[in-house]
Amino acid sequence: MSKAKDHGISARNQEFIRYDQVEKHQDYQLAEAAANEQFDDEFRIKTCDLDRFLRGGASDKRQFAEELGSALREIGFAILEGHPINPSLYDEANEKVIELFTRTSLEDKLRFLAQRHGSVNQGYFPLKQTSLIHPDLVEGWVFCRRAFEPARAREFWPAPELQSFFGHLCEQHEALILPVMQSILTYFGCDPHLYDLRLRDTNFGLRLNYYPPISLEDDHSGAGRLLGHEDIDMFTFLPAPRIEGLQVLNRRNMKWIRLDAPKGVIVLNTGDYIQRITNDILPSTTHRVSKPRDPALRALPRASFPMNVYLREEEMLQVLPGLPNPKYEPIQAIAFHTRTTSKYYGDQYAVQDDAD
Ligand SMILES: [Fe+2]
Repeated sequence: MSKAKDHGISARNQEFIRYDQVEKHQDYQLAEAAANEQFDDEFRIKTCDLDRFLRGGASDKRQFAEELGSALREIGFAILEGHPINPSLYDEANEKVIELFTRTSLEDKLRFLAQRHGSVNQGYFPLKQTSLIHPDLVEGWVFCRRAFEPARAREFWPAPELQSFFGHLCEQHEALILPVMQSILTYFGCDPHLYDLRLRDTNFGLRLNYYPPISLEDDHSGAGRLLGHEDIDMFTFLPAPRIEGLQVLNRRNMKWIRLDAPKGVIVLNTGDYIQRITNDILPSTTHRVSKPRDPALRALPRASFPMNVYLREEEMLQVLPGLPNPKYEPIQAIAFHTRTTSKYYGDQYAVQDDAD
């Protein structure tokens, strides 16, 4: 494993392209490549006002769908303002993530070591062990729907009271799943309710990320905080993190955009599931977490808590009706998901499609 990780510092995404099941022409070094990289300081990720969908009439909804769809089509990312979630909940979540990782002993954390349940690797990921291919300077903890069943608190949580706090956060975000999906479907001229049943009580993964202060040794190792990747999901809700780091690859010029989102907004990005069902029209855009430029910020911990929205394992991913020249055969979500993520977890991670 350590060999693969040494290599991970200079690895490029195209070395792993056989795992991908949507078109990815972009070629980039997975870790930050310092002198070889360029930044796009011009590009602005579009901000869309979700309130227009949530409380507006039919024409507001259509307008929101058009704005969101075109933002996602251009770069795979949009910023959602006007959502009903209180920013103080995000402040509290930020503190609780830091507490969870700093107050739990390593021995306790390791009792919850990540393992695959269905599609998703769930549980605790130690520092530098987020994946087999690169030693990211992050600890992670993934909780899916089963981790929020009240009777299973002790099975998944080192401090059971965190279950209800983060469960509440997930419920708030779950209420945004249908508005976003209905808007995407409206953008494509499909029945906006096509995915309503499939997305009700769907699978999701709340990923708590803790980026410890960066030591000199880690800084010199060449590792990044979270290396370049595309999300394997329908879409991701990321409450704007407090500390600089999120960067998005602009495929048009292969420059990195520093995404600086104001406090309280939600960063939305589309993942591989959506790229697949939209026939590559909405991209699953490469992003990463870099070390902050300001040395004072490097000395601080960074927390984030994205929620990945999936389909249930048995659902089929199928190109949306009406899109011309579908490139992809329908595929079961679990096969699609695990074949792609086996690039991170090893070939044995892939689950076969029932139809295979
Ligand atoms: Fe991501």
